[in-house]
Amino acid sequence: MLRSAIAEAYAASPHLLHVLHALQQQFLHISDEAVREVAAHLDLPLSQVDAVVDFYSFFHKTPRGRYDILFSNCTSCGYMAGGVDLMAMLGRRLDIVAGNTRGDGLVSMDQTSCIGMCDHGAALLVNGRPITSLDAIKIDRIAALVEAEAPLEDWPAEWFQVDDNIRVSGLLLKDDFTVGIGLRKMLELDVADTLSEIIQSGLRGRGGAGFSTGMKWQFCREAQGDAHYVVCNADEGEPGTFKDRVLLHSHVDSLFEGMTVCAFAVGAKQGYLYLRGEYRYLLPHLQSVLARRRELALLGVDILGQPGFSFDIDIVVGAGAYICGEESALIESLEGKRGIPRVRPPFPVTHGYLGQPTVVNNVETFIAAAHIVLRGSAWFRAVGTEKSAGSKILSISGDCAAPGIYEYPFGVTIRQVLEDCGAKDAQAVQVGGPSGTLINSAEFDRRLGFDDLSTGGSLMVFSQTRDMLAVIVNFAHFFAHESCGFCTPCRVGTVLLKNGLGKIAGGHGTRYDLDEMQHIATLVKCRSHCGLGQTAANPILDGLQRFPQAFEQRLVHHDFEPHFDLDAALEEARQISRRDDAAAHIE
Ligand SMILES: Cc1cc2nc3c(=O)[nH]c(=O)nc-3n(C[C@H](O)[C@H](O)[C@H](O)COP(=O)(O)O)c2cc1C
Ligand code: SF4
Repeated sequence: MLRSAIAEAYAASPHLLHVLHALQQQFLHISDEAVREVAAHLDLPLSQVDAVVDFYSFFHKTPRGRYDILFSNCTSCGYMAGGVDLMAMLGRRLDIVAGNTRGDGLVSMDQTSCIGMCDHGAALLVNGRPITSLDAIKIDRIAALVEAEAPLEDWPAEWFQVDDNIRVSGLLLKDDFTVGIGLRKMLELDVADTLSEIIQSGLRGRGGAGFSTGMKWQFCREAQGDAHYVVCNADEGEPGTFKDRVLLHSHVDSLFEGMTVCAFAVGAKQGYLYLRGEYRYLLPHLQSVLARRRELALLGVDILGQPGFSFDIDIVVGAGAYICGEESALIESLEGKRGIPRVRPPFPVTHGYLGQPTVVNNVETFIAAAHIVLRGSAWFRAVGTEKSAGSKILSISGDCAAPGIYEYPFGVTIRQVLEDCGAKDAQAVQVGGPSGTLINSAEFDRRLGFDDLSTGGSLMVFSQTRDMLAVIVNFAHFFAHESCGFCTPCRVGTVLLKNGLGKIAGGHGTRYDLDEMQHIATLVKCRSHCGLGQTAANPILDGLQRFPQAFEQRLVHHDFEPHFDLDAALEEARQISRRDDAAAHIE
């Protein structure tokens, strides 16, 4: 049975992650025997398969429950919308503690990092399917359905609907995109003209770093290799970001069109969409769009009858690791390895997937490229600012009347955005997720763009009622949890920062702890191997600068207090030495 399951999964897609997902779903865990069989069937080292199963949070070596429930613990839906409290409530109803599988094997329950549903209140995944807008009544009903062992198909269908919540449309969201129209226009151009249009447009990557897309494509085109690859980064793991979820749901033709334009420009025959595991529910929809595009000759051999222009796209689903959004970690993951970021240079444009020249771009970047080819670089450049051409799609969540998707020309002020989303008494905005910038109300006239506040798309709003220290503690937990553990400054530093914040939030902090935290934060920022560690301390450093009172009001007054009770820790030694005199105690 195990062998046939592996053979069947492998025949559907040879990627290791795909095979492991199939086993996890069918057997509710990946046993040591399964690890051995997979390694043998895929001709991979046993240690590689074993390490991969250990690395990704959606794979388990011990059985999960038949209902596997994961609550998002992100700042917006877990903390602000009460998701963590609702999890405790479900735990009481089902008699299960978070992090466990119930003795009868019926249900597992745990927390997970942001699942990209922050515009829908508290949210969870049950067997990979999202349920949003949780409240006490829904929790009661979920508990009853689980106890009754009702199949998910019999649960209320509307629970599983995820609305787009598009509130403001601009350059990319306003226009509908006739399928294939961009490709037909592109084929009127040659490769050089296509590249030139993208370069002239001033398009910069929408995944956060903002590198020139045209230059990236040109470097890849010029790089020597046996094959060139196009990879779409749909890992969208930054807490508070969900715009790619909406694009993957409602603008997927323009995404695949953009990837195909890129393939034409760089000379690639194969593309991959790396879809975050939390969005696995979108897989059937994405696959049906791919199938339709193949039927329309928009993918496959000799696309639109152009001899030699062949390209296809495969989807690989991640398995719950934020670090796999970092492009070199993503490539490792695509190759069936742990998502450990590579040493760069060399960069993916010359040495990417399987060591070959590879373009990695964000979902929104590819969509913008498809529109640019259709409408021209001048159309794109006419919007935005000198250094930040075009528009930016934002995911807005937190304390506002209308969370959802907003598209603005670059250069828009935070104040304008807050007004539009109905955030009346904001004290702070986290721009670009925890790895971005935390600003206070004195900075609301700052502008979104690569020249001022750059963002991959997340904007979390915090009203005057929020405890900013609690927000920063939540971010610190996220980074400590998501650190891949490869380099010491990040692996150890993120935990020290989390613990230090916990000590202050718990009312045991002193000025010494603040100084120490500043020191560690700077070290983690400057010494970490990749972008995760280099940005993990941002919320703390920003918080200390912009919201010092949130820390200082929790400090106790003496110079130093240890993390734990030193005197109590010596109790065992006192018992062994049979001493209990004053000198055997620490005051
Ligand atoms: C820890 C980490 C997570 C990242 N997550 C994402 C992500 O989810 N989506 C994304 O497009 N880029 C992400 N990036 C940025 C990518 O490394 C890369 O810059 C991007 O995919 C390039 O595409 P672009 O030029 O279109 O922005 C992440 C970077 C880091 C360091
Ligand atoms: S900085 Fe953190 S996430 Fe990046 S390689 Fe080091 S340990 Fe891994």
